[in-house]
Amino acid sequence: MKYNRRKFISFIGKASLGTMITPPFLVGCGNTSNPSGLKEESKQNLDSLKQLILKALPASDQDDLLLTKGLDYHVIIKWGDKINDEDTFGFNNDFTCFIPFDENNPKDGLLWVNHEYINPLFVSDYNKNLKQHRTIEQINKEMYNVGGTIIRIKEENGKWSVVENDPHNRRITAQTPIQLNWDSSIKETSTVMGTLSNCSGGITPWNTFLTCEENYDAFFGETVYDENNVATHKPSWYGWENFYDYPPEHYGWVVEVNPKDGTAQKHIALGRFAHECCTLYELSDKRVVAYTGDDKNNEHLYKFISSEPGSLKEGTLYVADTNKGKWLALDWENQSVLRNKFKDQTEVLIRAREAAKLLGATELNRPEDIEIDPITGNILVSLTNNKSKNDFHGSILKIEETNGDFDALSFKASTYMAGGEENGFSCPDNLAFDLSGNLWITSDISGSSMNKRDKPYMPFKNNSLFVIPRYGQDAGKIIRVASAPRDAELTGPWFSPDGKTLFLSVQHPGEQTMDLNNPNSTWPFDKDNIPKPAVVAITGDLIEKINKLKQIEG
Ligand code: FEO
Ligand code: CA
Ligand code: CA
Repeated sequence: MKYNRRKFISFIGKASLGTMITPPFLVGCGNTSNPSGLKEESKQNLDSLKQLILKALPASDQDDLLLTKGLDYHVIIKWGDKINDEDTFGFNNDFTCFIPFDENNPKDGLLWVNHEYINPLFVSDYNKNLKQHRTIEQINKEMYNVGGTIIRIKEENGKWSVVENDPHNRRITAQTPIQLNWDSSIKETSTVMGTLSNCSGGITPWNTFLTCEENYDAFFGETVYDENNVATHKPSWYGWENFYDYPPEHYGWVVEVNPKDGTAQKHIALGRFAHECCTLYELSDKRVVAYTGDDKNNEHLYKFISSEPGSLKEGTLYVADTNKGKWLALDWENQSVLRNKFKDQTEVLIRAREAAKLLGATELNRPEDIEIDPITGNILVSLTNNKSKNDFHGSILKIEETNGDFDALSFKASTYMAGGEENGFSCPDNLAFDLSGNLWITSDISGSSMNKRDKPYMPFKNNSLFVIPRYGQDAGKIIRVASAPRDAELTGPWFSPDGKTLFLSVQHPGEQTMDLNNPNSTWPFDKDNIPKPAVVAITGDLIEKINKLKQIEG
């Protein structure tokens, strides 16, 4: 799909550049475009940019992080690295988010990194298949390796590195006490233990990190209800509930972390489900709109609209009916169908999935990442796949809010781009817009299906990073620019404030390993030959050129 100049102008005609197109709070954080922040190029450079043709990387099953010509990478931090005298970097890093200390210095700031889940074989030396006895020390190791990390990082001579022992460096784990941002307690407490399943996230206008608890039921299980509304406990995959008696209701939330001191709170008003991400937009009166999806087969897309400036507590949570283009309120007081089933608004939010279905929300094919297109103001949602409905390759959903108002209660839904062999990608997951509004997409073909002859994913080989340029010769094409090591997924793309670095997570390399002496991957090629999840910085003249493409449109 190509956005032409006329369409671009007609859009900015509705709102002045800089207020509507780019949420102002994102400009300093490198999450989206900064139309006025790019250095003017000479005519000669602009002419060469017009001729720029990106060389697509072929699909590969090689065990390496491969990059197309013009891109380089270096590892910033990997699993097990020390961040200070007490703490080490956790496992399976996902979402990254960089906030500079000073808007005028894009090369020094705090990086947040999610640690989504652990592979017991690597982390706690436990092999579930062998039905081994497990100790509490093993569980504690597992709990330490999820959550998130805050590190101060700096760029010097083109290389990003961790400022070791910086006082900001800290871990948040499955055993860090966290407050609930809600007026009533949940399962008799307002302070819960830890955060887990931290998949993707977001950033707030007041410069804090958001980390989202996705597949929480894998750790402490889930409370399930029968037709008579009688509750039972469904056990988890990891079995942590056999060691710690923490209720499932304490997980499945959007969590906000203060970068400066690591204090955290869980936002109950945003509902409880497998939150992939949380993408905020600040309205002109400082109220916020938060988009967040439930990454499970046949679950839903939600948005929260605050009623108070800067609040993630006061307001209403809505769920999408994409057939009728309506946002439906999960509001106990005003929806009799919810009053008949649940005892109060807190229960509606805890059991948001059931409430959404009662309201008639549309079942979607696993909503993953959500980003606001800085050029059109449309909301793009990755629908990664839904094998139960024979959707193997997924698609990207486009939401156009009525009149472009983010607090509208109606919208139009359509497909932005479909996955599959024709378009050369499958299972879209994370999305990121760069300074020029080019769209970067990562894929998440599951490790058990990738490169398997009997699965429809063979042609795509390893998971990859793609870009859709918005201007120039390649505008509208989807181009593979990176290929992940074996079994890995590339996640958490986030641009540095000057647009010159793409922070990226390499998650679960060698995930299908059965024997540590014979691992499926050895990336990032440490001496011990054990694969390690790591955060890398991708730099190079290609990233700079593609960021300047917007200028060729004059
Ligand atoms: Fe953790 Fe939905 O990816
Ligand atoms: Ca994801
Ligand atoms: Ca995923």
